[in-house]
Amino acid sequence: MKTIHTSVREQFSQHADYYAQSSAHAKGDTLEVILDFANPKGTEKTLDIATGTGFTAFALAPKVAQVVATDLTPEMVTKASELAQEQAIENVTFSVAAAESLPFATASLDLVTCRLAPHHFQDVPKFLSEVHRVLRTEGLFCLVDSVSPESKKLIAWQNRVEKLRDDSHVYGYPPSQWDAMISDAGFDIERTAHTRNALMSFLWWVRPQKNPPEVVKEIRDAFAQLSPDDAKKYYTVKPADDDFYFSWPMYAVKARKG
Ligand SMILES: C[S@@+](CC[C@H](N)C(=O)[O-])C[C@H]1O[C@@H](n2cnc3c(N)ncnc32)[C@H](O)[C@@H]1O
Repeated sequence: MKTIHTSVREQFSQHADYYAQSSAHAKGDTLEVILDFANPKGTEKTLDIATGTGFTAFALAPKVAQVVATDLTPEMVTKASELAQEQAIENVTFSVAAAESLPFATASLDLVTCRLAPHHFQDVPKFLSEVHRVLRTEGLFCLVDSVSPESKKLIAWQNRVEKLRDDSHVYGYPPSQWDAMISDAGFDIERTAHTRNALMSFLWWVRPQKNPPEVVKEIRDAFAQLSPDDAKKYYTVKPADDDFYFSWPMYAVKARKG
């Protein structure tokens, strides 16, 4: 059976150029919230996990001493390091690494960030224990990811829809489960925030060039089966001719290693 790491690499290796151009990922509330939570002094040795094409690492670079940006997919790391060169960003280095096995010494970092990625991780408790290990005492961990609403029905609905569209999706936890897992890993949670990503066109998001029409239909039908209240409250669904727009709920956590 294909491992999740293989699915992630297959998925993201094809999309490095596209991802680097994606305004849905380049900006938005999730980047602002992570910068606000991190609030760096300028001296921090920082790690950005699952950096993709480096949006979070590049936003942090001018505000910290150095950033190491890691990702499981070599093509993403290559693209991010080309972009850093183009933009003459000198205090970011890159390496290929899994979030569940970080190639850094214990207590060697001041700040760890991770944005829009853990729903692809095969082992979130292992990722959190690695983040805890590499941070120094009093070090800060700032996370933002898409989450499911606190409802059994919608947790199942959202994870089914995400997995149908992209088999490298693993699990979108609800906020309460993130809080429990982060606390269990030994962190003190200092702040949390609910936010969401920018509205996306369904026809763009569903990737019709990759997913066959029957899968696109199954996902569209799943959206149509949401109650009008759930569609509006949790997913901000807005009809638009043949298409519709929607967004995913996001959750941000600022946690300290005590
Ligand atoms: C949505 S993208 C990147 C988001 C990026 N943090 C940002 O702020 O734009 C998700 C990234 O997670 C990476 N990824 C997925 N699973 C991973 C894992 N287990 N370890 C490290 N990186 C992983 C993928 O290769 C992909 O580049």
